[in-house]
Amino acid sequence: MKALEIAPLLRGLTFDGEKGDIVVFKETIENADLTCTAEELDAKYQIGVRSVSVDGVGGFLLGEDYDDAVNGTSNVRKIYGRAAVANNKVCVVTGGAQGFGEGIVRELVKNGAIVFIADMNVDGAKKLAGELNKQAGRTVAFGVAVNVTDEESVKAMMDEIVLTVGGIDLFVSNAGVLKAGSVKEMTLKDFEFVTDVNYIGFFLCTKHVAPVMELMNKPSGKYFTDIVTISSKSALEGSNKNAAYAGSKFGSVGLVQSFAKELVADNTKVNTVCPGNFFDGPLWSDPERGLFVQYLNTGKVPGAKTLDDVRSFYEAQVPMNRGCDGEDVTKAILYSVEQKYETGQAIPVTGGQVMLN
Ligand SMILES: NC(=O)c1ccc[n+]([C@@H]2O[C@H](COP(=O)([O-])OP(=O)(O)OC[C@H]3O[C@@H](n4cnc5c(N)ncnc54)[C@H](O)[C@@H]3O)[C@@H](O)[C@H]2O)c1
Repeated sequence: MKALEIAPLLRGLTFDGEKGDIVVFKETIENADLTCTAEELDAKYQIGVRSVSVDGVGGFLLGEDYDDAVNGTSNVRKIYGRAAVANNKVCVVTGGAQGFGEGIVRELVKNGAIVFIADMNVDGAKKLAGELNKQAGRTVAFGVAVNVTDEESVKAMMDEIVLTVGGIDLFVSNAGVLKAGSVKEMTLKDFEFVTDVNYIGFFLCTKHVAPVMELMNKPSGKYFTDIVTISSKSALEGSNKNAAYAGSKFGSVGLVQSFAKELVADNTKVNTVCPGNFFDGPLWSDPERGLFVQYLNTGKVPGAKTLDDVRSFYEAQVPMNRGCDGEDVTKAILYSVEQKYETGQAIPVTGGQVMLN
């Protein structure tokens, strides 16, 4: 067995009913609490062991959080009940450097999680991680590079995370792109670009995170893990002149349902959150390229003379009269994590704009 398999097994062996220890891989460890072969690990591991050296593989430091494992300096918050759903869980958010992803990252950290901000914009991801670590006064976030359309990059990201903390409890597949346009005019290149990120990216991430989660569940058979993809209200209802996007999001619901049926065997739940429009995010509000500016300039909203007119037009389509934000989305993510009797679901968070039937 390799370090990449042993680390998630150790996280699984230390399972406390909700999650396991953080497990940090080191090439060598002097005077480890436990020294054994990979095959002996299961039988020889005992509660309280803080360091393990596996013959021919390397060493592993164990702790309640990352700082505890590396330095023995834990100041983990003690949280109980519903508020503890994500506490000290390892979460990954793709596309976490900005927009909905950033909001989800911030909310998960508030809820006590250790979050990997995985983005093509690695500088943005690292900057956000630095800010969150400073605020928290302990290690709560890491920035990591990924292009979700590139299988090697996705696999490298998973390996980096597993060797840094031992496993992944919640994987939020959030990275997504939008290119609108008439079916009569859209280029194949643009259609494929949207499909690659929103649909194939979700497949690649699930393909490489599911085996990690399987290993974590192996020792106890009771370790629940979660994959949540952020689709859209356009996963539930077609979107005019926006077929590439809606098609990719509808497709991801099919993937969610199918992955859920297979991965339930490993206690991995797979769900999707379907948000309404995030009017305060860059997609809509960017002063140069945002949809509000584009729709004002192209006269898409009849009679609109200002950006506020365009915004009011779209807000009025939502029964709750406002856009969605990262906090709204995270509440639905936390629900799907807390709920141990549901999988394969598409959860709308649209202020009543789209209702299931
Ligand atoms: N903004 C909305 O109104 C809205 C509404 C419903 C659903 N959504 C969905 O929410 C998710 C986030 O949307 P947003 O508006 O916050 O997006 P955004 O454009 O503000 O941010 C997307 C992030 O993903 C990253 N990214 C893009 N392609 C990537 C790739 N190939 N690999 C890794 N990272 C990549 C970007 O660098 C960026 O940080 C998307 O899946 C989107 O479809 C958005």
